[in-house]
Amino acid sequence: MRKPIIAGNWKMFKTRDEALYFILKVSTQMPDIEKVDSVVLSQAPLLRDLVKRQGDNLRVGAQNLYFEDEGAFTGEVSGPLLKSYNVDYVVIGHSERRNVFHETDTDVNLKLHAAIRNELIPIVCVGEHLEDRVSQKTNEVLKAQITKAFENVSRNDAQNVVIAYEPIWAIGTGRTATKEIADESCGYIRSLMKELYDEPLAQTIRIQYGGSVKPENIDELLAMENIDGALIGGASLDPDKFITMVKAALKRTE
Ligand code: PGA
Repeated sequence: MRKPIIAGNWKMFKTRDEALYFILKVSTQMPDIEKVDSVVLSQAPLLRDLVKRQGDNLRVGAQNLYFEDEGAFTGEVSGPLLKSYNVDYVVIGHSERRNVFHETDTDVNLKLHAAIRNELIPIVCVGEHLEDRVSQKTNEVLKAQITKAFENVSRNDAQNVVIAYEPIWAIGTGRTATKEIADESCGYIRSLMKELYDEPLAQTIRIQYGGSVKPENIDELLAMENIDGALIGGASLDPDKFITMVKAALKRTE
């Protein structure tokens, strides 16, 4: 059985005080990390404060990294720096990075290699635009994104990657994909991993759903066969909601 992973993507929200309040409230309430991976993903300058206070069962991650390890890249954050802060996770290719900051599938691939090189656990995001879904191009888009992201990634490294399926039309819109749609696309991504690697890898790799997940819909999403967790934006900002959603994942393991 795949261990569920619930990750709160805070995006560009929370000041230091707000983040410290959150961590104080949730860090002691997280389920055993042997059963559920609970993660918060913050703006880079907060990471050090969060790692110091994460406790035994919460992990911390960055929302982005640059694909070079050092150099004249003003404003970027490096993998070695994240690693030196004992950050565990890093999000790669979030749709906001792709759409607002013009990141390409090639950037995503280079960043995935950078995360692996620096021993960070990557959460690789993929997902289609509404036009793609309407014109029945979802699988084509997912295939192109996944194939390029994993180019030259060994089986050994690929098996530790977390994939997040986030249909762009469902992010921050209050419009969640139905559990059937979410499961179908996560299942399709699993079949792509079988094509790229093999069946055992496809069966062990963890695939999250993301897009307007909240306490009211997380149970039905996590009950689906191919959904191993959630990447949560808006609803993860509230400590009580985050605790509720992590506990929903724990229930699934019992
Ligand atoms: P949302 O964001 O939960 O606010 O829709 C999800 C995400 O962008 O990861």
